[in-house]
Amino acid sequence: MTPDVEQRLLTAAAEARAAAICPHSGFAVGAALLAGDGTVWTGANVENASYTLGLCAERVALFYALTHGARDFTAVAVITGATTPSSPCGACRQILLEFAGDAAVITATTGGDALRTTVRALLPFGFDASSLARAE
Ligand code: THU
Repeated sequence: MTPDVEQRLLTAAAEARAAAICPHSGFAVGAALLAGDGTVWTGANVENASYTLGLCAERVALFYALTHGARDFTAVAVITGATTPSSPCGACRQILLEFAGDAAVITATTGGDALRTTVRALLPFGFDASSLARAE
């Protein structure tokens, strides 16, 4: 991910983070994805009273993008207010692998710390559509 793309995505993710609905955890997260056509798609986490039904920022952004036709994601940015960069949860890693498996990832704090990796590095030996190929 070039520094320009990082900056563009982190700015978008930080703006999206402002819309987080996180009354239970108080942990606001913003995410931004770069699609193959250059479009940036964003999302923020949404929590509700039945805690387990909430959705992470990464999946909000990804499902929003996918259902508007976006494909071929090349980069993902996540931003939180944590003291150290937090990386996507296991559920998000699975969904990212399936729909954005070739993407680079930057996770950052609002304080300016960042961790750079890739979707594949976050979920080695993952299960995706190719895993469904059967011998019989
Ligand atoms: N969360 C995200 O949105 N993305 C992550 O990568 C980790 C966690 C959300 C889920 C929940 O709303 C809050 O952060 C605390 O876990």
